[in-house]
Amino acid sequence: MRFQRFLLAGMLTTVLPLCAQNVTAAKPPMGWNSWNHFAGKVTDADVRGAADSLVSTGMRDAGYIYVNIDDTWQGKRDANGVIHSNEKFPNMKALADYVHSKGLKLGIYSSPGPQTCARYEGSEGHEAQDAKTYAEWGIDFLKYDMCSFGPEKEKYQAEHPNDPDAGKNFMIAAYKKMGDALKATGRPIVYSLCQYGVDDVWKWGPSVGASMWRTTDDITDDYGRMALIGFSQDGLARFAGPGHWNDPDMLEVGNGKMTSEEYRMHMTLWSMLASPLLAGNDLTKMSDVDKSILMNKDVIAIDQDALGKGATRLYPSGDFDVWSRPLTGGRVAVAIFNRAWGERHIPFNPADAGFKTGATIRDVWHGQDLGRKNGKFFSTVPKHGVALLILSK
Ligand code: GAL
Repeated sequence: MRFQRFLLAGMLTTVLPLCAQNVTAAKPPMGWNSWNHFAGKVTDADVRGAADSLVSTGMRDAGYIYVNIDDTWQGKRDANGVIHSNEKFPNMKALADYVHSKGLKLGIYSSPGPQTCARYEGSEGHEAQDAKTYAEWGIDFLKYDMCSFGPEKEKYQAEHPNDPDAGKNFMIAAYKKMGDALKATGRPIVYSLCQYGVDDVWKWGPSVGASMWRTTDDITDDYGRMALIGFSQDGLARFAGPGHWNDPDMLEVGNGKMTSEEYRMHMTLWSMLASPLLAGNDLTKMSDVDKSILMNKDVIAIDQDALGKGATRLYPSGDFDVWSRPLTGGRVAVAIFNRAWGERHIPFNPADAGFKTGATIRDVWHGQDLGRKNGKFFSTVPKHGVALLILSK
């Protein structure tokens, strides 16, 4: 009896702290999402193809386990209000079973408003019912996109002119309604808020049960847009951590409109920020370079580091930008980004990252140990490229 009590106490001390945080996303979620490449055309076959490719390319084993269907899967509600998928997705439960059989998880998409961004059925007024349907299908991830709720929020604000927070609180309540509904299903479902970072979502996201929240408007497969979004994230790291993450939107690596250096910068910046890593390319047609960028183990390890502390800007210096984040074991990751239109030789001193007596340095993308550096040294960084270093004592 005493032993049993001892065992129970032991179990509780392990389980309780885990329950206190959202264990569905103890680390930034990794996977794939249909939107950036397939947009409104995505079908059941595309999703199965993505699942197959996650396995055959080695991406699943590198950590990419969520297969997320974005907008345009929804059909009509039946007489009881139950949502059904449309003809592009003939059997959602069968699709979930298929994805699960590959050791992967399935994600889906909806809106707190009456319609999604692509004008498909939203969840307003059906939150508990939809959450239950998702759980029955075997869904593991929900992206909840504000879209048509935006005008409702504005209308509500206009009706309450004396309360400057009325619209914000109205929106928070709508996101909480779905967060509570997901929790009530008893199924662990990653809850991903998509409302483009309005009203400082990072301050209230955890209170509605969110595992992650978009901090910006949409990314596109464009260097300028990627850099604008990524480098605007300074100051947000302190709001994220194990269980709840800042999300500067999905990856564009492999979609073809940036150079390899730019995609390397994109992957580095997102990993430095401890962002969710949701690939957005056609996984059935990946070049070896795309694979090497998305599957670099050391870069992924930075993103997934157990401390969960995203990067802050160490200093901007004209054409280049230096960010750092603490890692487990007293190590520090430093990314030296070259935002100039040509190659640059960029100086860096380990003392600037707290290593006053020098540091042992690993160059992550080149997979090289650079030995010990005490004092200023230079990295040669190509146009729109990055030197990613791990410093240790
Ligand atoms: C946008 C969202 C995109 C995508 C799209 C679907 O609002 O930011 O990531 O989900 O809607 O319609």
